[in-house]
Amino acid sequence: MEDIAKYKDIIDIAFKTCENAYAPYSKYKVGACVLTKDGKHFIGANVENASYGLTNCAERNAIFQTYSNGYRKNDIEAIAIVSNGKTLATPCGACRQVLVELLEENTPIVLSNHKIEKITNIGELLPMSFTEKDL
Ligand code: THU
Repeated sequence: MEDIAKYKDIIDIAFKTCENAYAPYSKYKVGACVLTKDGKHFIGANVENASYGLTNCAERNAIFQTYSNGYRKNDIEAIAIVSNGKTLATPCGACRQVLVELLEENTPIVLSNHKIEKITNIGELLPMSFTEKDL
């Protein structure tokens, strides 16, 4: 098992970002932080909408910010996704599909809710995925 201690900074930043979540409907706040290999941080929080399906999840916002700043999958060291829920906020199905295209298969995805911490990757979260390789 990889040492979670080295991800303390991005976990802390993700928890701080959690406070910025706009979640008036679910009241469930999520924060995310991407760490690039050159040491930059890109954050995201979930932003909900009265038309619920238009909600953007925290990790999607963080990865889109990363790409919007010119970074690509091979530039990404890790991503932290956190919440204060009673279980870990594991990426929803839509986010897994986005992440499988925008992250390397084995890039660490660090999950925390303060009580439980886990490191996974998109290969594990979305096996047998449909991607650009299939087109
Ligand atoms: N949510 C995230 O932002 N990321 C996750 O990994 C799980 C779910 C958000 C979407 C919605 O705003 C709220 O959490 C409840 O589903």
